[in-house]
Amino acid sequence: MTAELRTDATPLDPAALRADFPILDQQVFGHPLVYLDSAATSQKPQAVIEAMDAYYRQDNANVHRGIYQLSERATAAYEGARAKVAALIGAPDPRTVIWTRNATESINLVAYTWGRKNIHRGDAIILTEMEHHANLVPWQILTQEQDGDLEFIPIDDDGVLRLDVFEVLLRLRPKLVAFTHVSNTLGTINPVKEMTRMAHEAGALVLIDGAQAVPHVPVDVADIGCDFYVFSGHKALGPTGSGVLWGRRELLEAMPPFMGGGDMIREVHLRRSEWNDIPWKFEAGTPDISAQIGLGVAADYLRNLGMDRVREHERELVAYALETLAREIPGIELYGPPADIRGGVVPFNVPGVHPHDVAQVLDRFGVAIRAGHHCTMPLHERLDLAATARASFGVYTTKADIDALAAALREVQRLFA
Ligand code: ALA
Repeated sequence: MTAELRTDATPLDPAALRADFPILDQQVFGHPLVYLDSAATSQKPQAVIEAMDAYYRQDNANVHRGIYQLSERATAAYEGARAKVAALIGAPDPRTVIWTRNATESINLVAYTWGRKNIHRGDAIILTEMEHHANLVPWQILTQEQDGDLEFIPIDDDGVLRLDVFEVLLRLRPKLVAFTHVSNTLGTINPVKEMTRMAHEAGALVLIDGAQAVPHVPVDVADIGCDFYVFSGHKALGPTGSGVLWGRRELLEAMPPFMGGGDMIREVHLRRSEWNDIPWKFEAGTPDISAQIGLGVAADYLRNLGMDRVREHERELVAYALETLAREIPGIELYGPPADIRGGVVPFNVPGVHPHDVAQVLDRFGVAIRAGHHCTMPLHERLDLAATARASFGVYTTKADIDALAAALREVQRLFA
């Protein structure tokens, strides 16, 4: 399934892994593709592409409905993927893994169901200044509708959360604390276990946005002790349209459904219905079967690599990138915390050049990065930055990719000098 075999003692070999990712083997404007936008979406290994293709070629049928071979095979693959994802994130029970389209939908599901039932006038929800819009806007909608309040844990100038202020905010006795595990913009790895403990001591539930964590750092929801954990499949080597909400069983069971329709019911009468058990209570209508099957294969792929090794690989890459860019690109502004507490994300600005121009010139050298506000406008406001350029890494990123970025940035400086 992969060019690598998991042996925890050996470092990851990204150059060998690249053979598993067919898209990486191409030229852009006559240069080898250097893909440094994995925080926006990851590339997909051959095994994921093949699993989705095989589903459509051999097993395509609706799930949970047909009493015939194809449907039974489709259902087994679809439900089997749940167990693979549960194993990747340390969820003790696959039935607590709810399929969604992405992290955004997972957070909205919690806001619209748990939130509407539990947040009332004057109730506080604590977020952080570094949240992606996906973990901000649903809570704004909820608190505006229910007359609740939002409070924010500030960051310091390196993009590290101020836990001393968090401690003070907890005196508000919030109902929920929701925060990202790893910042998509600065890469900060938050101390999620400690924050969960603090929130629980104050009587709050905890939702963690793991969109930038699951493909980059070891995640164990049972060990963290959180109440909800969400992520998107497409950032975790899986397909677009696959996503996960993990929640504690008793919370999921007590929550009303999100959307009504087929599959989420046990019995339907003209004027009332009874809901199905979890996870299906939250999965109305025909789901994206092939996408969730693909995500299961991606979860196995990551587990096979070993998430400790993936983390170590990205820590080394970040350290190398920070050092190389600071040395090679005079005047470059680099943002975010040190490599030891940072996932594979390096935001920067080249003085005098707008990040969009930086990204456009880099593209002519085959280097793909993201430029803009990265769906974190409040964080950019806090840092007093209109926009940033951002290089982000995955399991297939090599030091040679970073060297290529540095060489192309030198061309940017030459052009705009
Ligand atoms: N949230 C994604 C990113 O950070 C799209 O680029």
